Amino acid sequence: MSFPATRMRRLRATPAVRSLAREGRVHPQDLVAPLFVVEGRSVRREIKSLPGQHHLSVDRLAAEAAGLFRLGVPAVLLFGIPADKDKTPDARRAWAPDGVVQRGLRELGRRVPGLLLMTDLCVCEYTDHGHCGILEDGAGRKSQPAIANDPTLEALARIAVSHSEAGAQWVAPSDMMDGRVAAIRRALDEAGHSGVGILSYAAKFASAFYGPFREAAHSAPSFGDRRSHQMDPANAREALREMQLDLDEGADMLMVKPGLPYLDVIRQARDRFDAPIAAYNVSGEYAMAHAAAERGWGDLAALRDESLTSLKRAGADVIITYWARSFAEDWRRRGGLDGR
Ligand code: PBG
Repeated sequence: MSFPATRMRRLRATPAVRSLAREGRVHPQDLVAPLFVVEGRSVRREIKSLPGQHHLSVDRLAAEAAGLFRLGVPAVLLFGIPADKDKTPDARRAWAPDGVVQRGLRELGRRVPGLLLMTDLCVCEYTDHGHCGILEDGAGRKSQPAIANDPTLEALARIAVSHSEAGAQWVAPSDMMDGRVAAIRRALDEAGHSGVGILSYAAKFASAFYGPFREAAHSAPSFGDRRSHQMDPANAREALREMQLDLDEGADMLMVKPGLPYLDVIRQARDRFDAPIAAYNVSGEYAMAHAAAERGWGDLAALRDESLTSLKRAGADVIITYWARSFAEDWRRRGGLDGR
């Protein structure tokens, strides 16, 4: 049947019927909030490139995380930002028991019971050159870094064990070295942490949308770029191979990152795999909406809700987003209704 018997607008006539016809909803319980932990005391400093997000010292972390948890956000993803003087070629500060992430984990474990503690696992915040791996001996500072894959796995395994000893329940490797999931799984199991989950940044693209994050995390590479390990933006089939490999190596959840420019990859992953699929709504997606709203070119809450809804529609079960708090606050203010 077609027009005039079929009139699609009947499904859109009122808020009530739109509510019934709506195919999916974002809920605060789908979200993971990234948090940036820094050295120092009483630090809660807004990050210029990420409006509304803060650098938090360990003593300020629990209040922030408890607020999110009360709003229904079940998990946080911790990023550690060490002091510049602690950055070394081998990233050793990343597995120090008194590092910012390790102290932050212990604090959150004590003060926010029930909150799921996830950590980002990468060396780029901890290396003096800002790359996601240990460089080959004598590699020098060429235009592209020669990252030594297997020595980097050892560092990642150490960090994973160190995080889990401090109370991380899930680790999320974001480095894109080959074989890291298996190396991390083995190290965790050998250390007696077989209950710790792995959320793999499985399909992580070499993206221009990470710009604001690198300013927030002080992790911009000092030379070269990340194209020798992060994926080519054109490659969706290769992304599925990466995800299959990570599942085979023992990943519990798979991530696609960034989110909005890669909705097709999220959809294909959702259709092909039965593991939970996470999407990272990255810094550039967030900053872009803020920049547009500041110029009066869009309504921030509407840009936010449409962004998160798109990720959900594409097939993401879990959304990692800087909007976790603002979305959950508005959701509560509206009594759990969509407001559309
Ligand atoms: C670290 C890491 C990055 C992001 C998450 N983990 C940066 C990068 O790969 O350059 C990006 C997050 C964001 O942009 O919000 N390897």
